[in-house]
Amino acid sequence: MKVVLAYSGGLDTTVCIPLLREKYGFKEVITVTVDVGQPREEIKRAEERGRKYADKHYTVDARKEFVDFIFMAIKANAEYEGYVLGTAMARPIIAKKVVEIAKIEKANAVAHGCTGKGNDQLRFDNIFRQYNFKVIAPIRELNLTREWEIEYAKKHGIEVKVTKEKPYSIDENLWSRSIEGGSLEDPTFIPNEDIYEWTKDPEKVSKEPEIIKIDFEKGIPIALNDEKLEGFELISKLNAIAGEHGIGRTDMIEDRVLGLKTRENYEHPAATVLLLAHKDLEKLVLSRRELKFKKLVEEEWSELVYAGLVNDPLFDALNAFIDKTQERVTGWVKVKLYRGCATPVARYSENALYSKELSSFDSLMIDQKFAEGYSIFHGLQGRLYRREL
Ligand code: ARG
Repeated sequence: MKVVLAYSGGLDTTVCIPLLREKYGFKEVITVTVDVGQPREEIKRAEERGRKYADKHYTVDARKEFVDFIFMAIKANAEYEGYVLGTAMARPIIAKKVVEIAKIEKANAVAHGCTGKGNDQLRFDNIFRQYNFKVIAPIRELNLTREWEIEYAKKHGIEVKVTKEKPYSIDENLWSRSIEGGSLEDPTFIPNEDIYEWTKDPEKVSKEPEIIKIDFEKGIPIALNDEKLEGFELISKLNAIAGEHGIGRTDMIEDRVLGLKTRENYEHPAATVLLLAHKDLEKLVLSRRELKFKKLVEEEWSELVYAGLVNDPLFDALNAFIDKTQERVTGWVKVKLYRGCATPVARYSENALYSKELSSFDSLMIDQKFAEGYSIFHGLQGRLYRREL
């Protein structure tokens, strides 16, 4: 009996290794760590721990797939209640990679270390089940607490990194870093600076304002400050640049799929800048009606991704609509970065629906008198409704 476990190297997933042997009777536990742009050291640590505690370990590079998903998210201006969906987008990709290994290994089941309270369980389960794998979720099924896990880990000679001072559950990938748990579970608690790693304290940023330029082609960022870059590098660089300015922190209350509300802290400097710049360029290029309708599509897109329902046919249909609109979203945007704020300050596109000749105060191209006819009908019903009889 063989099981393949989605493995981050953290406490929950490491505890799953002996549990899968002891409580579920698997003879062979195979760990899979998927690279979605988390720090190198984290992947190395997962590799070391996987090799040490499991029977076999795989590390799979999914950075390319992840960047493609991020590009879709930029085109969709994706956010759920203000969250840029980094973890949510990574999960289905990780799940697919685990399934691929499970097929190669002819495993009897696949497993994850998610709790029964969060969204991640739903995202993994949905993809695992799509491929008809039996799903095992030890933490959820055995209803385990973190304290129990720490004790159990110690008994099994598993090194535990979680401390009383830093008890956070952190999930990190190219698009965002999320920090949960510990003192943050109290919404009245103001987090200490030490929860942040990607962003400088905006109050202490000493840098001068900086204007950066982002080029987009069909809704996708292709260059940073006139340097053509592949997606992964562009986003990494921008994370560093905008992080130095203290840009991209979110402290919010979030509605999980199950209905539980949670306090969430995120860092996402590049996401903040790219989404802002992309939206700005769209305003120059898309029609008023396109923009209005696209908002509905964006919200639906983000909800599907948040819920891990990316295999729904609706998701493909929404992407088809979004891609159609993005055909013209080519151009550049300049964004000013300063003390925690990113502000678009200039934009250009060959496909702009903006016309200086028409809207300028100095232009005589449109005879202003023509507007009077329009104005006579404008607000007609309101005036009828309020007329004094
Ligand atoms: N609330 C976010 C989400 O549902 C982040 C979850 C982070 N997960 C974690 N294991 N720390 O996508």
